[in-house]
Amino acid sequence: MFNAKITATGHCVPEKVVTNEDLQSILDTSDEWIRTRTGIRQRHVVQGGMATSDLAAAAARAALAQRGIDAGEIDCIVLATVTPDMFFPSTACLLQEKIGARGAWGFDLSGACTGFIYALATAVQFVHSGAHRKVLVVGADVMTSILNPADRNTYVLFGDGAGAVLVEPTEPGEQGVLDFILRSDGSGGKYLYMPGGGSLNPPSHATVDARMHYVHQDGRAVYKYAVQGMSEVSAEILARNGLSGDDLTLYVPHQANRRIIEAAVERVGLDPDKVIINIDEFANTTAGTIPIGLDQAFRAGRLHRGDVVLLASFGAGFTWGSLLLRWGC
Ligand code: ACO
Repeated sequence: MFNAKITATGHCVPEKVVTNEDLQSILDTSDEWIRTRTGIRQRHVVQGGMATSDLAAAAARAALAQRGIDAGEIDCIVLATVTPDMFFPSTACLLQEKIGARGAWGFDLSGACTGFIYALATAVQFVHSGAHRKVLVVGADVMTSILNPADRNTYVLFGDGAGAVLVEPTEPGEQGVLDFILRSDGSGGKYLYMPGGGSLNPPSHATVDARMHYVHQDGRAVYKYAVQGMSEVSAEILARNGLSGDDLTLYVPHQANRRIIEAAVERVGLDPDKVIINIDEFANTTAGTIPIGLDQAFRAGRLHRGDVVLLASFGAGFTWGSLLLRWGC
């Protein structure tokens, strides 16, 4: 068995920024409502044919450059997304081609907002087993491709973005990833879903007319379960590892709603200065939020080798989970 650690990070968001004020001109909403209910001030959105694999490729290149290695050294790509470029080939394969990771194999993983934690835990297994030494883990979504621009309940909440990390074996004496908790509950599927476009409702004029190719959400229900789920797995993983909020250097939660994060922070008993919050800048980028937050924190000098970091998320499915690690780079 080999322990696994994160050895590099990268992220990419599109250049174009849409502010809450911009949305006021197309929707019955207000900057005040969006900021006070969610914490979001603006979001980055793609333009003109930019797809999930493009954001993923830029994030991956940034991570590889930080590590100083060539894409040809990657053994495996695990890419979490709910907005693949297309059903197939997988976005992992498209990414492989874009960055020139010729020695790798890879696959997509659908875990919605928890996708990155699922993907990271999966990558850790490949390293643990000794099967692979360099696994690229990417969380990437172009949520604007599946949002109804006329639906104020969902349109204001999301943005586009991608983050990537490299997972490698630890050096002797290092701990790397310490533990994870992964959960799902399919009975929550009805609260957040995209009904059209798959095998149940293949695309047709009728499904498009019925707006089935867009995100549908019962926001209040998701909010309630998210507060409970994210708080629970955050507190549980600390407790079972004999740690408290004081032992953490940084908490990097999924960015769905500032109030969901604050509830979890209170439950874990954390100093708010130890929490990454960037929802004001990027909104909810689904699988992108956590690796984007990690990359921002690392590049800002807020993470050092050996620091204890907690990741946590909740999303469609329902899916939720947490992952505890010692920073590895
Ligand atoms: N602008 C103005 N008013 C709005 C908007 C908007 N953009 N959206 C909804 N409203 C209205 C509603 O229609 C409602 O009006 P009504 O009382 O006349 O019916 C009113 O605002 C209040 O709606 P609530 O649903 O009670 O508002 P709430 O305080 O719960 O906030 C929100 C709504 C932000 C969606 C919240 O429930 C939430 O964040 N839920 C989590 C959803 C989420 O983040 N999903 C993302 C994926 S899952 C995940 O990442 C965890």
